[in-house]
Amino acid sequence: MAALEDLIPVVNKLQDLVFNTIGSDTLDLPQVVVVGSQSSGKSSVLENIVGRDFLPRGTGIVTRRPLILQLVNIPSSAPPTWTQNDNTGYGTNNVNNGSTSSNSTTSNSLSSSPASTHGAIAGGGPNPNATFVREAEWGEFLHIPGRRFYDFSDIRREIESETARIAGNNKGINRLPINLKIFSPHVLNLTLVDLPGLTKIPIGDQPTDIERQTRGLISEYIAKPNSIILAVSPANVDLVNSESLKLARQVDPQGKRTIGVLTKLDLMDQGTNALDILSGHVYPLKLGFIGVVNRSQQDIQEGKSLDESLTAEKNFFATHPVYRNIAHKCGTAYLAKSLNQTLMAHIRDRLPDIKARLNTLMGQTEQELASYGVDSSYSKENRGPLILQLMTRFASSFIASIEGTSSEIST
Ligand code: GDP
Ligand code: NA
Ligand code: MG
Repeated sequence: MAALEDLIPVVNKLQDLVFNTIGSDTLDLPQVVVVGSQSSGKSSVLENIVGRDFLPRGTGIVTRRPLILQLVNIPSSAPPTWTQNDNTGYGTNNVNNGSTSSNSTTSNSLSSSPASTHGAIAGGGPNPNATFVREAEWGEFLHIPGRRFYDFSDIRREIESETARIAGNNKGINRLPINLKIFSPHVLNLTLVDLPGLTKIPIGDQPTDIERQTRGLISEYIAKPNSIILAVSPANVDLVNSESLKLARQVDPQGKRTIGVLTKLDLMDQGTNALDILSGHVYPLKLGFIGVVNRSQQDIQEGKSLDESLTAEKNFFATHPVYRNIAHKCGTAYLAKSLNQTLMAHIRDRLPDIKARLNTLMGQTEQELASYGVDSSYSKENRGPLILQLMTRFASSFIASIEGTSSEIST
């Protein structure tokens, strides 16, 4: 497994190169896509997996543009604690570079914040009692190059305003993605996509065919054979009505790359439970169903921290009369772990295909070089920029060829 883990940064780097040269994803690399009906808990699940409060969440249509979230693991160079008067020089490049000052930071809040043991993809949980700035991790948006967001609530605000900038203020949705990277020593290298939820009845500025458009948008992301689908269904709605499973089945009929996520287990009617679903007896998914409990709307309003929420979730499963026997296979931490394992297996399976694509790309490049009168004796050092140009051109024409079929929501 260790060698495979080394591969993920390489894959992310490749994706990065494509983002930076042509501004879109054409390499079809593995990514995790979260789908489900509106307010089923998609953004909450994603946020729990990342282990940070940074996504707009809530009742109604909140996520209105795709969010492509790339988690980037960086080495931890941070001292165990950090204070305002720290003179070690650590973070001196960054301290006044962010959008927030570190004045609210106290040595107390930091030293009382040991690394979290909740086991989500982000290993270090936030301090429930303080909003402190951890200089070692930050977010960056593709649309604001070079600016580091050290405060995750600033990231949420930027997502909100960037959503409104393109999709308006009246519930409209837009297919143009927001690209966000989170750099942290506490994350695994993963690309995750949060999508607008499926909705049936148009409201606000939404077009009359909103359902068809969101379906089209979601299908486009999950159709890619190497995307892993997190199909979110709320446990308080009958599974046969699950929109996410219907959509996932269309693109993954054998249920090979779909993980079922059952949210809102805390909201099921008294006397009912989801043991049958979680045990895989109801709906066939090779990767199974994982039950989670996210923060409720009231929790959000009361400012319940992610750490508290994860602890409460753990307790929920550990003490539940029905779920306690399968508690080790429930919850956010287990979901994050399974996701990682699945992703690695997935990359391994896709390697021959990615390699074939690269070979094709190289073959085409060689041919183009030959047509320019450049033969293989051309020195390798001089070829670099030309190859990059040719790759960019190849990617652009590839983009153009798929765009004709998929520009419905971009108007
Ligand atoms: P999305 O529209 O699918 O992205 O859903 P959100 O993550 O925005 O959540 C929608 C609403 O459901 C919010 O008010 C959440 O607090 C609430 N919610 C999500 N998951 C759970 C859960 O497991 N339990 C409870 N009680 N509420 C949840
Ligand atoms: Na919502
Ligand atoms: Mg959402």
